[in-house]
Amino acid sequence: MKFLLSTGKRLYIRLSLALFVLLLLQSIVLAFFWQQGNKAYSQEVTQRLNESIAMYITEQQQLIVDGAVNQQELERLANRAMVINPSVEVYLLSVQGQVISNLVKPELLLHQVVDLTPVEAFLSADRELPILGQDPKLASTLKPISVSPIMENSTVVGYLYVVLGGAVEQSIVDSIKNSSILTLSMAAIFASLILTLVFSVLIFYLMTRRLQTLSLAVKEFHLTNFEDFASIISEENTHNAAPQDEIDQLSYCVLAMAQRMKEQLEHIESIDAQRREFIANVSHDLKTPLATIQGYVETILIKEENQPLEQEERRKYLTTALKQSNTLAGLIDQLFELAKLESGSMVPTLEGFSLKELIHDSLQDATWSAKERNIHFQVEADDLDYRVNADIALIQRVVQNLLDNAIKYSPEDSLIRIQMVEEESVIQLHIADQGKGILAEDIPYIFERYYRCQQQRHSSKLGSGLGLAIVKKICDLHKSTISVSSQLNKGSEFKFELAKAS
Ligand SMILES: Nc1ncnc2c1ncn2[C@@H]1O[C@H](COP(=O)(O)OP(=O)(O)OP(=O)(O)O)[C@@H](O)[C@H]1O
Ligand SMILES: [Mg+2]
Repeated sequence: MKFLLSTGKRLYIRLSLALFVLLLLQSIVLAFFWQQGNKAYSQEVTQRLNESIAMYITEQQQLIVDGAVNQQELERLANRAMVINPSVEVYLLSVQGQVISNLVKPELLLHQVVDLTPVEAFLSADRELPILGQDPKLASTLKPISVSPIMENSTVVGYLYVVLGGAVEQSIVDSIKNSSILTLSMAAIFASLILTLVFSVLIFYLMTRRLQTLSLAVKEFHLTNFEDFASIISEENTHNAAPQDEIDQLSYCVLAMAQRMKEQLEHIESIDAQRREFIANVSHDLKTPLATIQGYVETILIKEENQPLEQEERRKYLTTALKQSNTLAGLIDQLFELAKLESGSMVPTLEGFSLKELIHDSLQDATWSAKERNIHFQVEADDLDYRVNADIALIQRVVQNLLDNAIKYSPEDSLIRIQMVEEESVIQLHIADQGKGILAEDIPYIFERYYRCQQQRHSSKLGSGLGLAIVKKICDLHKSTISVSSQLNKGSEFKFELAKAS
């Protein structure tokens, strides 16, 4: 039972059943019209063949003389007509349609009066066959008729009304209803319907098989917690390079969608891992200077309890504590800065300024840390000056962050080149270093917050992965694109553009 229910839910079974029901209905409708058509056809043929039979009888003899029926002649002529065609039945009607004479046993006569409308239609000049009239022996079935008026002194005194294919034919029709030919035809129709059902199940099964495979694959993909979909989906659904039909296209779309979902999921997982790592880093970064500051302040206090500290020693402790508190403030500033940029409430204040001056100011700030590691700067085409239209404070942060990275990730005794390139309506700023470079797989992610490249994650180099995220946000605010090209162990080059000041 369960199997039948689940099979019934299959698409190909449903399609087959729908087709079967459609064909069944079609057969019933066709059979009905075929039978009706056949009946009308045979009635018309019968009527055309026997159209003038009534006229033939009335022409032979005067059947009503002075209002009295010539019963003898009527019987003689009617019997002769019935010898030629046994299915005819002859009646004599008055002008009102009353049956005034017939050859039928009185108990068989169901109607004493016949409707004259078809009689008038038959006698009209532009008649259209078949014309069906009442059979006095049948309750309601209409039959083809042949009619001729009976004249006496140029007046119509009655009608000779001949029912063609009357009750005799009806009984023959009824008797052959159960004949073997009819039974055989019904059986043939039934067999062809069953055959159609079987073949349609087969054809629809073959047609929907790939759809079924696809649906199973999607189900499994969901159950396996978005594992690799390509390995689940069958060969059959992916064998073609270019999609052939709608099912192929659907398979490709689902495959692409699944791959995208997998990538997104992995990306979300990696972002989540980075976020956790960042929180750990930030708390560590915040705790370390804080602990140092606390340590030095406590040391000063403890030592001062016994005897006042030497000027020099006190200065040393306080300088270290100040340095640590600066680092702490810097990190907190960066976090606030990014939060502000990400909130979308920041509107850059655009003004025209000299890019060369801004570079020189930034280099002055950077020189101290660069000198420590013997790193030099080279500003190319230093004699040129360009004025750009941007938010000076924000662009200074961009340049500072890029220089900070270039210094941090460059080896000792290396060179950092800064170049300004004039394009149509913009000035491009390039900052290139000779550092370790960035792995190709890291490049798409370096502008995301908290992201630190694989090489740096376990290195001693301090960094929270916020610098480039800030840079990217500021460039976005200026509708500028920042990009990077990098070669491992050769160096990296960052570039972005700023609109020229008019
Ligand atoms: N010039 C560069 N050369 C090599 N790697 C770089 C360079 N600039 C950035 N990176 C890599 O990109 C990552 C992201 O840089 P980002 O400036 O956002 O963070 P950070 O320098 O680690 O920390 P923060 O700038 O917040 O102090 C860095 O961790 C580093 O791995
Ligand atoms: Mg940085």
